[in-house]
Amino acid sequence: MPYERPLIRVEPPGPKARELIRRHHELIMTSTHDPENLPLVIERGEGVWLVDVDGNVYLDFTSAIAVNNLGYPTHPEVARVAIEQLSVLAHAAGTDFYNPYQIPLAEVLISIAPGDFGKKVFFSNSGTEANEAAIKIARYSTNRKYFVSFIGSFHGRTMGSLSLTASKPVHKKRFYMTMPGVIHVPYPNPYRNPWGVDGYEHPDELVSRVLDFIEYWVFEHQVPADEVAAVFFEPIQGEGGYVVPPKTFFVELKKLADKHGILLVDDEVQMGLGRTGRMLAVEHFGIAPDIVTLAKALGAGVVPLGATIFRKDLDPEPGAHSNTFGGHALAAAVAAKNIEVIKSLLPHVSELEKLFIERLAELKERYRAVGDVRGLGLAWGVEFVKDGRTKEHDAKTRNRVLYEALRRGLVLLGCGKSAVRLIPPLIITEEQAKIGLDIFEEAVKASHS
Ligand SMILES: Cc1ncc(COP(=O)(O)O)c(C=O)c1O
Repeated sequence: MPYERPLIRVEPPGPKARELIRRHHELIMTSTHDPENLPLVIERGEGVWLVDVDGNVYLDFTSAIAVNNLGYPTHPEVARVAIEQLSVLAHAAGTDFYNPYQIPLAEVLISIAPGDFGKKVFFSNSGTEANEAAIKIARYSTNRKYFVSFIGSFHGRTMGSLSLTASKPVHKKRFYMTMPGVIHVPYPNPYRNPWGVDGYEHPDELVSRVLDFIEYWVFEHQVPADEVAAVFFEPIQGEGGYVVPPKTFFVELKKLADKHGILLVDDEVQMGLGRTGRMLAVEHFGIAPDIVTLAKALGAGVVPLGATIFRKDLDPEPGAHSNTFGGHALAAAVAAKNIEVIKSLLPHVSELEKLFIERLAELKERYRAVGDVRGLGLAWGVEFVKDGRTKEHDAKTRNRVLYEALRRGLVLLGCGKSAVRLIPPLIITEEQAKIGLDIFEEAVKASHS
């Protein structure tokens, strides 16, 4: 029977969940879990619903961190393809030999990446690996050493991508030194930036502040522009708080990059694949990046899969980079079907965007603790502050909201220092989205002091 509403039988964490969480902490590496994580032990999923080990039913507004864009447990069309593929071939050394399955996926990925130029694809298993490949392609092809990335960004946790990441100090604590040569610059965050510019009222001023920073403070004081291989960016910062930059930012950034022969690497690991109502989030900003990285939703929650799509002329020589699982036949078949289903959902996501715009604007009007609301499609961030004037972060209220929502049957995740992200599976219906938004408002009301 499909679920229609959340159903909380026992206050989470229930007895089974408590025991499993205790055992988890005994056995699994501590670093994977933040002490503020919600005590949710998921046993199964159905569409947009999650059922915990104590029988509580929740509405999911996380998509398992932007992975299960097609919901749970597996979209039926993707499941059918996966089962068929399993009976033919799952893995057969797709980087040493050849298989027919990775070719159609490469073609479809090339077709969804903007830019009327030749492209190629490298397959990997995760977001961090997709970005490591991008780092190597950029360095190899330009023979330049430096990178620029943005404060607040998250690009992964292996040593190369970690050096680009500037999200939380704990990610880097005791890991010095990571890859040298990365310069971090402010992201054009309209709500909160070093210059105090209201980027909603004055987007052009914010854009020029960031670009001047790069041109003057970086290229004239720190590193020569002609030794910078690439600028890495998230088209919307995900872990950093679902921050949407001004519309013109990337066009201007591209002009600057082109002037100095610098590549642009677009990290779509969290925002790509339909999340914003377009196949790639960068499509909202009108540029064609030189390299695009994908992971998370690419494998539809069935297979771990990353991809790096790059300009054909940047292609490194044989042996320069490779791996074991790239071109995995099962992963390739699943991802190709997944993209086809996501494509069919794009109009639905754009339609639902209106509901989120309207309901979250009302929320901001009603509650002082809501400092900022931003997003596109089904990718929304709500930032909590102690005082709208000083914009002091209010992580305590944010954390209460997460818990108050959970106990009412809505699963949410935090992001940034004091924001909540609302990222339901793209298959969510309008009625289900309304249920989630109602619970979210109740949780804000209950947490608001
Ligand atoms: C934008 C972005 N890039 C890269 C990553 C790293 O992906 P993974 O955890 O698969 O290595 C993440 C993960 O949250 C991300 O949000």
